Amino acid sequence: MGRKSNKGKEKKKRRKEEQAKLAASFTLVEAANKQEDPMATMAPFKKYERNGLNLAIECKKVAELDKDTVDWAFSVTKDNMQTLYEESNWGWNDRLKKEELTEDKAWYLVARDQDGQPIAFSHFRFDMDEDEEVLYCYEIQLTKTARRKGLGKFMMQILQLLANKAQMLKVMVTVFKMNTESRDFFLRALKFELDETDPGLCDPMEADEYCYEILSKKTVLGVKKQQEGDQCCSGSGCSRNQPH
Ligand SMILES: CC(C)(COP(=O)(O)OP(=O)(O)OC[C@H]1O[C@@H](n2cnc3c(N)ncnc32)[C@H](O)[C@@H]1OP(=O)(O)O)[C@@H](O)C(=O)NCCC(=O)NCCS
Repeated sequence: MGRKSNKGKEKKKRRKEEQAKLAASFTLVEAANKQEDPMATMAPFKKYERNGLNLAIECKKVAELDKDTVDWAFSVTKDNMQTLYEESNWGWNDRLKKEELTEDKAWYLVARDQDGQPIAFSHFRFDMDEDEEVLYCYEIQLTKTARRKGLGKFMMQILQLLANKAQMLKVMVTVFKMNTESRDFFLRALKFELDETDPGLCDPMEADEYCYEILSKKTVLGVKKQQEGDQCCSGSGCSRNQPH
């Protein structure tokens, strides 16, 4: 029997490290989803009293929401988004949107007025995206009268804090390219960036074929990990210098 090459050993070591990292990521996502109330220690963020709005904000899993709230979430999403979906090559489908909004993994931020009526919501999930632990914002939907009063920005700030607290790496969102208001909101006001998994970035020759973009903003941990990665890549002989 010949000697095992160092190359083989290194490859095996790297594979083990990658597996361990993936397992750690899944554990973090699992722990995030097991939380009772992710906003338990965020009392100041549970109310929004600005620009004529006086709202209470709660964070719940979809199973804890009453049917009226879930039905309202569907109808405000339909009001706000149906035309955009129909103008895209996705099309609008009531049943599929209802299924997405009520999947077990769905978490909700709901902002209610003093009568308990919902005014705005975000559907989000703690999940794996490719091999990274992320908070994915599936929807942020405000009724028309509540817009441009800072509420959307406040709710996204809450999501960013929840992602930090759960040690996720970034907050992600999918935006239609023709939804210029939403693009301005995420890209200009909130400083989101095109995510590395954006299909137009991955496939630039066909970029125009995609009606949507994937945007993201790193968490505190995500920024730290990127900086560590950048330092590692600036050293000579680092395997991360190879295309990845
Ligand atoms: C997009 C949305 C969530 C933004 O929430 P909002 O509470 O209205 O936004 P904010 O008041 O927090 O705005 C913060 C900043 O974002 C930018 N912005 C928000 N709405 C904008 C618009 N319609 N046009 C241009 N810029 C806009 C502005 O810079 C704004 O700051 P300013 O008001 O001081 O100029 C909300 O308009 C909405 O629910 N839209 C319909 C549903 C939708 O498209 N959701 C996004 C799907 S991905």
